[in-house]
Amino acid sequence: MKLLQGKTAIITGASRGIGKGIAQAFAEHGANVAFTYSSSAESANALETELNTLGIKAKGYQSNAADFDAAQKLAEEVLAEFGSIDILVNNAGITKDNLLMRMGEDDFDKVIEVNLKSVFNMTKAVQRTMLKQRKGSIINMSSVVGVKGNAGQANYAASKAGIIGFSKSVALELGSRNIRSNVIAPGFIETEMTAKLDENTVKSWREAIPLKRGGTPEDIANVCVFLASDLSAYVTGQTINVDGGMLT
Ligand SMILES: NC(=O)c1ccc[n+]([C@@H]2O[C@H](COP(=O)([O-])OP(=O)(O)OC[C@H]3O[C@@H](n4cnc5c(N)ncnc54)[C@H](OP(=O)(O)O)[C@@H]3O)[C@@H](O)[C@H]2O)c1
Repeated sequence: MKLLQGKTAIITGASRGIGKGIAQAFAEHGANVAFTYSSSAESANALETELNTLGIKAKGYQSNAADFDAAQKLAEEVLAEFGSIDILVNNAGITKDNLLMRMGEDDFDKVIEVNLKSVFNMTKAVQRTMLKQRKGSIINMSSVVGVKGNAGQANYAASKAGIIGFSKSVALELGSRNIRSNVIAPGFIETEMTAKLDENTVKSWREAIPLKRGGTPEDIANVCVFLASDLSAYVTGQTINVDGGMLT
């Protein structure tokens, strides 16, 4: 059963990792997919071609999610090209880890801009369209680190915790217009973002997870399909941990 047939989704940061997995799952479920990337033009073009073979419409846009005007422009272009915006997945994110003692102001500001301000930018950009349509599903990618905190990630944890507060507020403001806003808090998902980590650290993390493995982009994408589809029509303002039981 195709759960997203005829819906149009914008997914930020889908040239690789979790975003790419979400784009693939959405397309398999019949959604038209507009996705963004920062600089990986080659992988974005390959993904665009791959998705278009699935019989849906897909297009990649180079767009900086941290830039307010660029987000407005993107939403206008997607609306003109696709005709509607039913789903927004704010997935783009970066890390600039360091102990607070060594964390520079730039590393704090950059992470807040790309991870948190981007969510404000994109939500503002699609709000009018979703209000007119009287429906919409917004999915924001936080992290277990935003729920629990993490030494060496004060900037990242602050951005991811901010997403949860923002998302709940949007759920309260827009619920009466049938616009839902939910958060996914992934645990340890094995992507290029985590490939930078030391292998021994990664091993010990896997062992500490109740399900005894790191997650995959598909694990996150499947929950996104649920939140994007009408199966979750009565779910808003929630944070779903997808972490193999890590925070349990
Ligand atoms: N992996 C994990 O374990 C994990 C755990 C919890 C939460 N998360 C969150 O899940 C999301 C995806 O993580 P990931 O592991 O898939 O990351 P990733 O492999 O590093 O991919 C990040 C994606 O975001 C894009 N991007 C970066 N900065 C951008 C910007 N300013 N504007 C638009 N796009 C931008 C990148 O584009 P380019 O390829 O062009 O750079 C790429 O497509 C992030 O928000 C992350 O914080 C990940």
